[in-house]
Amino acid sequence: MTDGQKATLTLNGKTFELPVYSGTLGPNVIDVSSLAQNDIFTYDPGFMSTAACNSDITFIDGDKGILLHRGYPIGALAENATYLEVCYLLLNGELPNKEQYASFETEIKHHTLLHEQVRTFFNGFRRDAHPMAIMVGVVGALSAFYNDTINVNKSDSRRMTAVRLIAKMPTIAAMSYKYAQGQPFIYPDNTLSFSENFLHMMFGTPCENKKPNPVLAKALDKIFILHADHEQNASTSTVRLAGSTGANPYACVSAGIAALWGPAHGGANEACLNMLRQIGDVKNIPAYVARAKDKNDPFRLMGFGHRVYKNYDPRAKVMQEACHQVLNAVGRKDDPILDVAMELERIALSDSYFIERKLYPNVDFYSGITLSALGIPSNMFTVIFALARTIGWIANWNEMMADDHRKLGRPRQLYTGPVQRDYVPVEKR
Ligand code: SDX
Repeated sequence: MTDGQKATLTLNGKTFELPVYSGTLGPNVIDVSSLAQNDIFTYDPGFMSTAACNSDITFIDGDKGILLHRGYPIGALAENATYLEVCYLLLNGELPNKEQYASFETEIKHHTLLHEQVRTFFNGFRRDAHPMAIMVGVVGALSAFYNDTINVNKSDSRRMTAVRLIAKMPTIAAMSYKYAQGQPFIYPDNTLSFSENFLHMMFGTPCENKKPNPVLAKALDKIFILHADHEQNASTSTVRLAGSTGANPYACVSAGIAALWGPAHGGANEACLNMLRQIGDVKNIPAYVARAKDKNDPFRLMGFGHRVYKNYDPRAKVMQEACHQVLNAVGRKDDPILDVAMELERIALSDSYFIERKLYPNVDFYSGITLSALGIPSNMFTVIFALARTIGWIANWNEMMADDHRKLGRPRQLYTGPVQRDYVPVEKR
């Protein structure tokens, strides 16, 4: 990483020479870790200018709207690969050959079942519990079933954890939906592909053996690929920070699910569809755009803007195409919500407020419409995102845990509280 470049910092008459590292792509970074020895900290709330780690997995160029997974552009992967192929790539660094893919797919299929005791966890929830609350709870509970056998310092133990999580997330996600419906859980069917199996567990019943629609399964597989990984976003950073303590990886992924749930992050897809439904008609768009621009109004256009992309999110383009494919396949190509979304996009992209701030539609803008057309309720949208992002979380966790030089994550702070003062007995307060 280092190529001898230095950055100079002068503070209180002292000068510090700081190493500058360059990666294979993207901006250089200044290594400030030595400043702590001089009791100097950098200050960067929200980590706007902070690289928390180095990684070989995913690269984003926010200005050019580029997203690469182990060097492969997201558009090429979405067009040509399956989600399991992308899982293999993110985990191992290379695309699998035919034998490797067949072996990986078989391995995943043989870990889709949950321990029968895990099924009882669902009964502790009310039937109207938000499925993300169930995901946080049940995935975290897996740490009780896979704790003694895990050695986070052994690559084969970490790999088995990755296989179990990739395989079991669809089962748990579908069960959280069935529980809310009051319908019986549907067991995985190993004769089906990963995405067909998820649709089978979501919408199948014991009363009939209907094969999922392959067009819809393929669209869903593409949606999983678009959500697989995305550098050090809030939920991935959460998994890394939790994992840096050596914690059980199932508990770390549960923390990632919790972080993803927020409307500023993965919860935006559910919030975006709710917003489009609230707008309801093209004629109401100007009023909502005005609210989004009003600093005194907390309302924001959900599905718009991104911390890194200052150009169109490349995933949003692919998602928009998938959206039209699904709407055509289900006979809803004239969905009024899609008209609202496309008109909102047109108006926002021609408005100086959004242009100046480089606010473009992100991956969440069209995903809600697409998932809704697949028959998936809006409170399951972020569950779908969590299912797909599990590979990104666990690939980053694995990369961090494989690094013998990894360090416990422990940020510092700028203290702005009271100086030391004496305790005052209650009778004197
Ligand atoms: C995801 O990090 C990742 O990679 C995340 C993700 C992934 O794959 O993991 O890509 C998934 O989380 C996508 C983002 C989903 N969130 C939303 O769609 C929620 C709506 N978007 C905003 O909340 C916002 O754009 C953020 C949170 C996504 C990013 O905000 P930043 O980078 O913290 O920037 P900011 O909030 O400081 O905004 C800069 C300016 C502000 O105006 P000014 O103070 O300069 O006048 O842009 C404005 C903001 O008010 N702004 C918006 C806006 N987003 C930013 N104004 C109206 N509507 C919006 N959506």
